[in-house]
Amino acid sequence: MKSFPTAISPVYGQRLLRFPAGAAVTAALFPLFADLRDRPVLVVGGGTVAERKIEALRRAGAQVRVVAPTATPALRQQARSGQIDWQAEPFSPHWLGEPVWLVIAATGDSAVNQAVYEAAQSHGVFCNVVDDAQRSSFQVPAVVERGALQIAISSGGGAPMVARHLRRWLESLLDDSWGHLVALFSRHRAGIRARFPDTGARRRFFEEQLAGALPRLLRDQRLDEAEAALGAALDAVPAASAGSVVLVGAGPGDPGLLTLAGLRALNEADVILHDRLVSAAVLQLARRDAERIEVGKSAGGHSVGQAQIHALMLEHARAGRRVVRLKGGDPFVFGRGGEELEFLRDHGIGYEVVPGITAALACAAYAGVPLTHRAHAQSVRLVTAHCQDSFDTLDWEALARERQTLAFYMGVAGLETIRQRLIAAGRDPATPFALVENGSRPQQRVITGTLDELATHAREHQVASPALLILGEVAALAGRLHWFGAAPIAGPLFPAIPSPSAKPSVATIKRAA
Ligand SMILES: C[S@@+](CC[C@H](N)C(=O)[O-])C[C@H]1O[C@@H](n2cnc3c(N)ncnc32)[C@H](O)[C@@H]1O
Repeated sequence: MKSFPTAISPVYGQRLLRFPAGAAVTAALFPLFADLRDRPVLVVGGGTVAERKIEALRRAGAQVRVVAPTATPALRQQARSGQIDWQAEPFSPHWLGEPVWLVIAATGDSAVNQAVYEAAQSHGVFCNVVDDAQRSSFQVPAVVERGALQIAISSGGGAPMVARHLRRWLESLLDDSWGHLVALFSRHRAGIRARFPDTGARRRFFEEQLAGALPRLLRDQRLDEAEAALGAALDAVPAASAGSVVLVGAGPGDPGLLTLAGLRALNEADVILHDRLVSAAVLQLARRDAERIEVGKSAGGHSVGQAQIHALMLEHARAGRRVVRLKGGDPFVFGRGGEELEFLRDHGIGYEVVPGITAALACAAYAGVPLTHRAHAQSVRLVTAHCQDSFDTLDWEALARERQTLAFYMGVAGLETIRQRLIAAGRDPATPFALVENGSRPQQRVITGTLDELATHAREHQVASPALLILGEVAALAGRLHWFGAAPIAGPLFPAIPSPSAKPSVATIKRAA
């Protein structure tokens, strides 16, 4: 195997692998739970820090040998009762000539720690120097324990306080019932594997148990009842597992805007059929081994037709899988969610719908544009404008009325038509707009201007899909209320920001002037 030179990072003491191309990547620590039962472990140091480490090693069943000229009273007592082997002398490298699996240096003396580290290196023994990541080939994580369940947290040695903070947080979240749960499932492990040889069926059984009475019984310490309930569930004849589809709204991109119900569905999914618009950050939250199928459709260029999406939902649900149909924004807002539900209903497939934050709400919020405002707009319209047909069927006179906000979806290619039709129907050319590209995502851009300059300004800044057009007096507020990402790029005619107390709309002011 080809080996690459390594270097020690001056900041965190982590090894940096230098790959031939010259790019340096931080080597992650390999997480490992070691079985130390009856294995010799050397601890150098006999103070209180060593005492804590020894306690943990003894709990893991290690045979602890301590080398230190002096030791705390507790360690002396343990040595007297034969629980540890204490060699009352200074460290010498020959102690690593004896077989040991690990060595921990807890002396507080940097020269001794260095000597321990070097001796360990030369004997190929894993070494931890307390609070010294650079001289440690293994680190001891912060641990949350609930019975046999252990959650180990590492900051790579760089920020142990963060790891400890996280441990306290997890401690407060996880009660003892988690330990009971692990014990219960460990006892029944062989039975469960025999009953459900297929991993998917096994996982579903487990999730059904977690969604049922077990957690409550365990929390209430009714351990016998929990045991009986699991036994009964294992003996029961399994119903043929019926697949289902959950339509989940993924929101506009920021994963923080996904709902808890959406997250749960993603965690339970066997198959995820997702649109192109769903952000990678949201997809990362889904169950790792769920099959992900992109059924992306871009405006104009449909890569997977709707009929094919229907067929995929049907195929996977009929095979007993839990399908998540993950859509950008909300499934029922220009998302063809209605058609998909009708199809599922006609084919007898069970379904649920989890709403998502639609682009109009998210883009408005992330651009600092309140969609309604006592002084400027009393209603909002969500409009789709992506093809000639949708332009021709819209009621442009109604859309051209003042004191309402229009949110145009899929309108990037039709901005000039929108401008012409609205002005022809009587909308003031000075009406402000905010065009929000990649709303809520790190690369969000907001372009502002007046209706008259809508298409030219957007072209000048090469606005691309996904972008949402917000048109109406409220759009002028983007200049003052924006808070996320870069400031809006204003066109030359963009109106002065209306004062919050101003009652009349921009257009009214203009007419009066
Ligand atoms: C097919 S529609 C889907 C709408 C989606 N169901 C929703 O509720 O937001 C796609 C359009 O939504 C808008 N859109 C979706 N995500 C967006 C985002 N992050 N930023 C700006 N516009 C977005 C764009 O107008 C895009 O062309």
